[in-house]
Amino acid sequence: MEERIRHKMPKEKKYAKIAIDGPAGAGKSTVTREVSRRLELKYLDTGAMYRAITLKLIEKGIDLNDLARVKEVLDKTEIKLNDRQEVFLDGKDVTGAIREAEVNRLVSPVSAISLVRRRLVDMQKAIASESNGIVMEGRDIASRVMPDADFKFYLDASIEERARRRRIEQLGKGNDMTEDEVIAEIKNRDIIDSGREDSPLTRVDDAIVIDTTDMAFEAVVDKLVNIVKSKVS
Ligand code: DC
Repeated sequence: MEERIRHKMPKEKKYAKIAIDGPAGAGKSTVTREVSRRLELKYLDTGAMYRAITLKLIEKGIDLNDLARVKEVLDKTEIKLNDRQEVFLDGKDVTGAIREAEVNRLVSPVSAISLVRRRLVDMQKAIASESNGIVMEGRDIASRVMPDADFKFYLDASIEERARRRRIEQLGKGNDMTEDEVIAEIKNRDIIDSGREDSPLTRVDDAIVIDTTDMAFEAVVDKLVNIVKSKVS
C-alpha cells in the first residue's frame, strides 16, 4: 500500500475514507479511479448506481411520476459493482449500457426522486461501513453518505471546460454533439442535481475545493494523493 495509508491512520481508525464530490465534467471519475489505485483503496462510483436504476426504469417503461411503480421496481432490483467497476443489474452486466444517451438524458430526473435516493444512499452507507477504506465519488458523499469521511474533496471546473471534456468523451463514442448542445445538457443537469430537495449536489464547508479547469489530470491526482499522504503520515 502506497506510503502505508492504512498504518499511518490514527490508531482507532486504520483506513481512509475519502469523499469526492462535484458536478458532471469536473473530472471526478478518472481522478477517483486513479487515486484509489495509487492509495490501494476500494473505489465506488455512485453515479453508476443511479445510472443502473435509471436503465431498469427505462427498460420497464416506468412513468417516473408513478412512485408506486418506481418503488415496486426498486424493491426487486439488485445493483452490484465489482472492483473493476463493472456494473451488474440483477446479475446482468450493464457496464456499457448505463452510459448510453437515453440513460444520460434521464439519470438526473431519476436521481431526484427521493425514494430512489434514500435507497441508494442506504446501500452506499452500507458499502462504506463494510469496507476497509474507500474512495467514493458522487454529489452528496461528504454531505450525506460519508459525513464522517477523513477527506472531503470537491472538484469543480468552468462550464466551458466541463463541456469541452464531455464533448471529447461523447466523440469517443461516435456521438458528435455541438458545443451549444453540450453546454445546454450540462446546465440542465446542474440545475436538477443542485436543486433537488433530497441530498442535492453539495459543497460542504470543510471540503477541500480543487478547481481542475487548468489542471492536467495527473496534477489533480498528485494533489489529492499528496494531501492524503501528508495528513496520514
Ligand atoms: O457522475 P455521473 O454523471 O455518472 O452521475 C449521473 C447522475 O447521477 C448525475 O446526473 C447525478 C446523479 N448522482 C447523484 O444524484 N448522486 C450521486 N451521489 C451520484 C450521482
